[in-house]
Amino acid sequence: MVPANLEKELLSRSLPERIQFIADYFAGEKIVFSTSFGQEDQAITQAIASIKANIEIFTLDTGRQFQESYELMDLTIKKYGISLQTFFPNTSAVEALVAEKGFNSFYTSIENRKECCFVRKMEPLNRALQGAKVWITGLRAEQSDNRADMPIVEWDENRQLFKINPLIDWSFSQLENYLQEHKIPQNPLHKKGFISIGCAPCTRAISEGEHPRAGRWWWENSQKECGLHA
Ligand code: ADX
Ligand code: SF4
Repeated sequence: MVPANLEKELLSRSLPERIQFIADYFAGEKIVFSTSFGQEDQAITQAIASIKANIEIFTLDTGRQFQESYELMDLTIKKYGISLQTFFPNTSAVEALVAEKGFNSFYTSIENRKECCFVRKMEPLNRALQGAKVWITGLRAEQSDNRADMPIVEWDENRQLFKINPLIDWSFSQLENYLQEHKIPQNPLHKKGFISIGCAPCTRAISEGEHPRAGRWWWENSQKECGLHA
């Protein structure tokens, strides 16, 4: 159950204040933040670092990301002096998947794509969230229909933790302003039309007028979710 005042308290604050409020409210509990180094995640990382909040930052390295993303990871760690925990896929699970289905099985069916996402993202995520009471993400309602009704804070019964999306109500221009104001480093791929960035083989640039997530798993007619937030 989400405490009655929590949502209201969070929504009335700025981003750094929201992060501070979460850190104070859940003091003594394990609070983790998952970053894929997207624009939303970069804003949250800067906010966490700026107030030195007691929040663990982790990423899921699928082994298939863009070189530009890895460069941004190093740059961000250095700029903000954060300690980043990286979760890799289980070695034998990746080896078995590749041995059975090859390196690019995700293109052959939705089931195969979801299997790859499970091995490379979901299973490592389950490990990353172990023992956490709070999971912070960079989700925004505007990103997709699936995310439109997500609240700023929800109780995840399966995982037994509070999932907090501190940017859920932010517009893209609010985000851009924050990034600009605080000179926050961003992935150079954004300027080349990659808005939402995931794994390299599963992300393409979008054209003007296309949905921001159209470049994710572009060959599919699916909900465009890997399961992390389904
Ligand atoms: S996804 O489900 O389609 O891949 P998206 O890229 O929109 O998610 O990112 C939404 C949020 O999910 C991010 O703000 C971040 O909290 C989390 N996330 C996504 N990918 C990763 C990753 N590789 N490592 C850590 N967190 C991630
Ligand atoms: Fe595999 Fe593509 Fe999912 Fe990355 S996004 S885990 S490469 S299917």
